[in-house]
Amino acid sequence: MQQSTEARPYDDVKTTITETWREAWDTGTTDALDSLFAHDYVRVSANSGKERSAAETKTEISDIRAAFPDLTTTVDRILIEGDQGAIYWHSTGTFTQPLNDVPPTGQSVTTHGSNLITITDGRISREEVTWDAHELLADLGLKSLSSAFESYPEDVVTDDLSGEPSAESLKAFNRQFITGVTVVTTTDEDGKPRGLAVNSYNSISLDPPLVLVCVQKTSSTYPALFRSTHMGINIMSRNQRQTIGTFASKAADKFAELDWHSGAHGSPLIDDSAASIEVEIKERFQALTHTVFIGRVRSADASEDEPMIYKAGKFFDSQDLTAL
Ligand SMILES: Cc1cc2nc3c(=O)[nH]c(=O)nc-3n(C[C@H](O)[C@H](O)[C@H](O)COP(=O)(O)O)c2cc1C
Repeated sequence: MQQSTEARPYDDVKTTITETWREAWDTGTTDALDSLFAHDYVRVSANSGKERSAAETKTEISDIRAAFPDLTTTVDRILIEGDQGAIYWHSTGTFTQPLNDVPPTGQSVTTHGSNLITITDGRISREEVTWDAHELLADLGLKSLSSAFESYPEDVVTDDLSGEPSAESLKAFNRQFITGVTVVTTTDEDGKPRGLAVNSYNSISLDPPLVLVCVQKTSSTYPALFRSTHMGINIMSRNQRQTIGTFASKAADKFAELDWHSGAHGSPLIDDSAASIEVEIKERFQALTHTVFIGRVRSADASEDEPMIYKAGKFFDSQDLTAL
């Protein structure tokens, strides 16, 4: 497109920003930005340093709008001094569609940001985007901004992933680690109980009462779990060998033959477990193939039944352990 080389007065630039942003961010007409961006436009993320061209910026807007279909963006203030300026804005939307590989949480999010702009001949040639990632992430229940906006999470895995140790030596190491085994539960969008066997449970702290589980993203329970505000964690007793087999499987209705009840926040809790807790999900750390869910314990119930033991692919009875 032909660009005027004549410098626009500040007010014209402000009007163009407000109008083209409304068209691009609120209606999805990203080509409106052609009249705002200079031919060598670049958008730099202040968080990651990543640079995007005009075309990539338009794609990013479309991707975010697809994930937050009701997104509205308000330009709160524009300041321009010489060839430098700042746009202060906030956006509100509901995360109802996947964003890259991140399933929607259904939550409504408001985020504030500011873009530092360089103006060349009345158009934006460079834009450095700073937004309050913390606020957005807390609302989304995500720790890593990149987990939502990049194709892979760079804060968790920053390293070269190849090399030592081999899978075999890591498996050998894991086989020496004895755990209990839990069933992590939630309900899906239809209110149906869902769950899977999990031995990656760990207690983080007593005060505040935080726990974690790691769940593989290929699990059929995962999308429902990611969307949930709460989950149940049931420690299997020595009498629940059949139950753990069911939850380690891909059975369509794992709860069909089971006695269970709903916790105060709706998570399915399995009757006769050694112990059950219901937790509020606070963080969802992305770790490539898995998500680490961190939860705050909201209720806890322990029985006298002895727990089941898991070691090197086999389940054991914990009743007659010898103390050292
Ligand atoms: C003892 C044991 C521990 C397991 N621990 C985990 C775990 O921590 N995280 C995980 O994602 N899967 C774990 N699994 C595997 C899942 O339970 C299994 O893949 C299950 O079939 C998933 O079911 P779904 O796809 O219906 O959710 C474990 C399985 C067993 C038998």
